[in-house]
Amino acid sequence: MAQTSQAKAQTMRAVALDKFGGPEALKIQNLPIPEIEAHEVLIRVEAAGVGAWDPYEREGRFVEIMGTKPKFPYVLGTDGAGTIAAAGKDVKKFKEGDRVYAGELANPKGGFYAQYVAVKADNVSLIPGHLTIEQAAVLPTDALTALTGLEKVLGLKSGESLMVFGASGGIGHLALQLAKRLGAEVFAIASGDDGVQLAKKLGADIAVDGRSDDVLKAAKEFAPDGFDAALVTAGGEKTNEALLAIRKGGRIAYPHGVMPEPTVPEGVATDAYDGEFDLKLIERLNALIDSGPFDVQVDRTFQLEEVSEAHKALAEHHLGKIALRID
Ligand SMILES: NC(=O)c1ccc[n+]([C@@H]2O[C@H](COP(=O)([O-])OP(=O)(O)OC[C@H]3O[C@@H](n4cnc5c(N)ncnc54)[C@H](OP(=O)(O)O)[C@@H]3O)[C@@H](O)[C@H]2O)c1
Repeated sequence: MAQTSQAKAQTMRAVALDKFGGPEALKIQNLPIPEIEAHEVLIRVEAAGVGAWDPYEREGRFVEIMGTKPKFPYVLGTDGAGTIAAAGKDVKKFKEGDRVYAGELANPKGGFYAQYVAVKADNVSLIPGHLTIEQAAVLPTDALTALTGLEKVLGLKSGESLMVFGASGGIGHLALQLAKRLGAEVFAIASGDDGVQLAKKLGADIAVDGRSDDVLKAAKEFAPDGFDAALVTAGGEKTNEALLAIRKGGRIAYPHGVMPEPTVPEGVATDAYDGEFDLKLIERLNALIDSGPFDVQVDRTFQLEEVSEAHKALAEHHLGKIALRID
């Protein structure tokens, strides 16, 4: 595919780090547009997701854990959406102008806080459902982490009872909708009155406020014989208390990064896991989204210039996700 005139431009605007640090280390810079290889596409990014994990990456903790050598300027952004600007010679399934969403963790060619990103085509998909570009941009990592947890780790079956802890957060509000699609009975533990309202709107069978309600009492009323499974996206005393309602022989899953790590009751299986990112799982996610109404909560959208504010907002109470608009 020929490159568009935009893609032929030499440079792009991006938020990049010259060194790891706090929100003030995020700077708008003009950087070269990344080159694509045969198996990659170039995406003209319109919006990026601001992930709960982005501050850790900004502080350099990812490269520490992964043992990789960072290349500066370092462009953050695991998730995003926009249009195909160009495709490598082995890529047949996309054409210029296709509206897509994609994700890649710590992409060495640069992340989605930029006007252009080069991503392997297997991590890219047409946008499912009726999602806006911002909704699609914030979706990939959290939705795939939710789906990995529900299907691959917990092996959730239709008719089972599921507790979702953190149900108004990024992973949680997607997990609860996916779990309903899979036929589970969902007990949502959300944050604040607004979180409870969101969880109810998204189809939770019951939603309680994990900040102020007696969660264990409500959980025992919902599932007197104990829950079959729990997906946990936030740790702490309330989490550990709620998990006492999981039955012996039940299962608990939580993505790596949830801190403090949950204390698991005796006789309950537990798995800390990473969300998977592969074509099959993306197709599965798209099919589930397309099978009925599906909502992605974008609580706040910031402009590229406001990226430091967006990072600060992550630490404040919010529902669902935060997006960055890249024009
Ligand atoms: N390993 C992986 O593959 C992977 C992938 C994605 C994410 N993660 C990690 O998984 C974790 C969750 O990610 P996320 O994107 O879902 O983060 P998130 O959007 O911050 O969600 C966590 C939610 O838990 C809520 N919460 C905290 N305490 C609560 C309580 N006592 N009762 C009810 N709700 C409570 C928070 O509410 P407030 O907003 O009010 O604080 C927030 O809505 C993060 O640590 C992230 O880094 C790991």
